[in-house]
Amino acid sequence: MRIGHIQLANRLFAAPMAGVTDRPFRQLCKRLGAGYAVSEMVTSRKDLWSSLKTSRRADHAGEAAPISVQIAGTDAAMMAEAAAYNIERGAQIIDINMGCPAKKVCSKWAGSALMRDETLALEIADAVVAACAPHDVPVTLKMRTGWSASERNAVRLAVGAENAGIAMVTVHGRTREQGYKGTAEYDTVAAVKAAVRIPVVANGDIDTPAKAGEVLASTGADAIMIGRAAQGRPWIFREIAHYLDTGDELPPPEVDEAKGWLLAHLDDHYRLYGEATGVRSARKHIGWTVQALPGGAEFRTRMNLIETCAQQVAAVGDWFDELADRGERMPTARRAPPTSDPMLQ
Ligand SMILES: Cc1cc2nc3c(=O)[nH]c(=O)nc-3n(C[C@H](O)[C@H](O)[C@H](O)COP(=O)(O)O)c2cc1C
Repeated sequence: MRIGHIQLANRLFAAPMAGVTDRPFRQLCKRLGAGYAVSEMVTSRKDLWSSLKTSRRADHAGEAAPISVQIAGTDAAMMAEAAAYNIERGAQIIDINMGCPAKKVCSKWAGSALMRDETLALEIADAVVAACAPHDVPVTLKMRTGWSASERNAVRLAVGAENAGIAMVTVHGRTREQGYKGTAEYDTVAAVKAAVRIPVVANGDIDTPAKAGEVLASTGADAIMIGRAAQGRPWIFREIAHYLDTGDELPPPEVDEAKGWLLAHLDDHYRLYGEATGVRSARKHIGWTVQALPGGAEFRTRMNLIETCAQQVAAVGDWFDELADRGERMPTARRAPPTSDPMLQ
């Protein structure tokens, strides 16, 4: 699997998720079998680049290659500038966001709203490709199947994108109108795959190794991308890799193993965010990890009151040790949790 000239370790990708797939989480997914992970979106608005949030998103210190940064915006020249800015900060692949359904993004004619204005969408693709070409940085695009059931233009847009020099497209099998409701369909992904020569990535509701195999087979996609099912369960990538290689399902991880991954993740997380922010923003990752375990809900409530990193680490360690003493294992793969994207409220 390649993106332009860049060879990837495999065809299992971690999806960009604002507020979730920060550098520590991407690193964790890569350690546990993802061949590729895309950053949370970075705005093309220059006035926000120096904000703490955006500067953290543009910090790739120590990140395993290839470093991929998603940019979002509505203006071709600004998007080209954003691409160049992120390349200076280490991006080796630039991804254009044409999938986000959030009002905040759509009202400014960005994210999935771009799918409704194909001329502007392709103008942006042209400008970003031109800005990246001198640096040998491939440009990819992530979209939905269309704006609504009656405006499903993913195939036409993907063909236009390929002609503009886009190196790979990812399709989330829902329209913008659907938000995260209903179920993802993969016929449109298959139609996109049949219409272009560049790699196509299938995304949406892939939450078990068997589903990963089914989606790859039914779409002919070159890769799959997983978002919500990796929340609290980043080892899903190695489970899928094992299943695709052997046809067998791995047993769920031992509690001790999961504890080790979570504590290493917390350490990385605190280093990026610092004590005050880190202890709070880590809570969602801990909560997702423990939610399906016996006593997980009670532990989560207690853990949410802890205000220091050292106490959070100690509480997580002790709680997992008690589970291990009782001979528990991590639960098997589950349906993707309902989205908790704060931007969709
Ligand atoms: C919390 C959250 C944040 C997201 N942020 C982004 C984003 O910044 N850029 C993007 O292209 N998609 C974003 N998405 C969409 C995901 O990348 C993915 O397309 C979607 O969740 C469907 O895949 P899944 O069913 O595997 O989760 C986000 C999704 C969630 C749940």
